[in-house]
Amino acid sequence: MQSLLVLSGPSLNLLGTREPEIYGHTTLSDIHARLQSQARAAGYDLEARQSNHEGELVDWIGEAPARFAGIVFNPAAFSHTSVALREAVAAVPIPTVEVHLSNVFAREEFRHRLVVAAAARGVVSGFGADSYSLGLDALIKILRQG
Ligand code: DQA
Repeated sequence: MQSLLVLSGPSLNLLGTREPEIYGHTTLSDIHARLQSQARAAGYDLEARQSNHEGELVDWIGEAPARFAGIVFNPAAFSHTSVALREAVAAVPIPTVEVHLSNVFAREEFRHRLVVAAAARGVVSGFGADSYSLGLDALIKILRQG
């Protein structure tokens, strides 16, 4: 069975209590549990991780092809700044789908620039916790299309 990797960046471990008016009340563990059953129903294993550290995310992306067929990635604040994460995503031969809970284009101007996204296959932004599920769906479709 193929495995999929879900990565979340800084402060997404605080989901549930972090600015709930923007990010909602769903916790990251709730999201991970939902993705687990979605993946299982589609015939995939899924592993979900969160880190506040750019280098750790770079390491995980670089190691991913050895174990995973694709990545769903919310780079959080690093989305807007990180050339290192963009190049990590571009460096691996597996597809990455970028997701954001909020609609970053409806927020402050500094969030309109998505540095990592250029290396992703596509971006889902603005559907709350559902952005992760929609991103996972897109990743599975990409993998099935070969
Ligand atoms: C976010 C949007 C980013 O601008 C922000 O820095 C985050 C979360 C989102 O999921 O909406 O941490 O990636």
